[in-house]
Amino acid sequence: MERTLSIIKPDGVAKNVIGEVVKRFETNGIKIVAMKMIQLSKHQAQGFYAVHKERPFFNSLTNFMTSGPIVVMVLEGEDVIAKNRELMGATNFKEAKEGTIRREYATDIEKNVVHGSDAPETAAFEIKYFFNDLEIQNR
Ligand code: CMP
Repeated sequence: MERTLSIIKPDGVAKNVIGEVVKRFETNGIKIVAMKMIQLSKHQAQGFYAVHKERPFFNSLTNFMTSGPIVVMVLEGEDVIAKNRELMGATNFKEAKEGTIRREYATDIEKNVVHGSDAPETAAFEIKYFFNDLEIQNR
């Protein structure tokens, strides 16, 4: 069993697609074992995306991520890191496969509706960034 972090970004929450995203996880054999809605401060967004701090889009990305509430979830399942990334589609929605979350709902390379951890090490860091052990259920 593997775990990964999923975020429905401010654009996804604003578009009322929380249910759509959750439905895709649940109908694809992925279990949600933690979930909350929060609004990040600039400092918290910078910490979360610290790996991108040298990128030209860092300031814009961290502003966007603080622009409204987000939904953070811990997903669990076999091979769930890869499975979630498949359901999300490519970072750039124009390159995302038909039927993926980003292809259907993203409007911009930055405003791409969802985030998902890309490897076991990043998943461990990202889950801990938002949840303590007591907030993650065994179900
Ligand atoms: P995410 O998967 O959350 O990881 C980093 C985020 O930076 C990405 O999704 C986009 O929201 C944002 N971003 C903005 N511009 C770019 C870019 N040129 N390449 C990759 N990510 C970008």
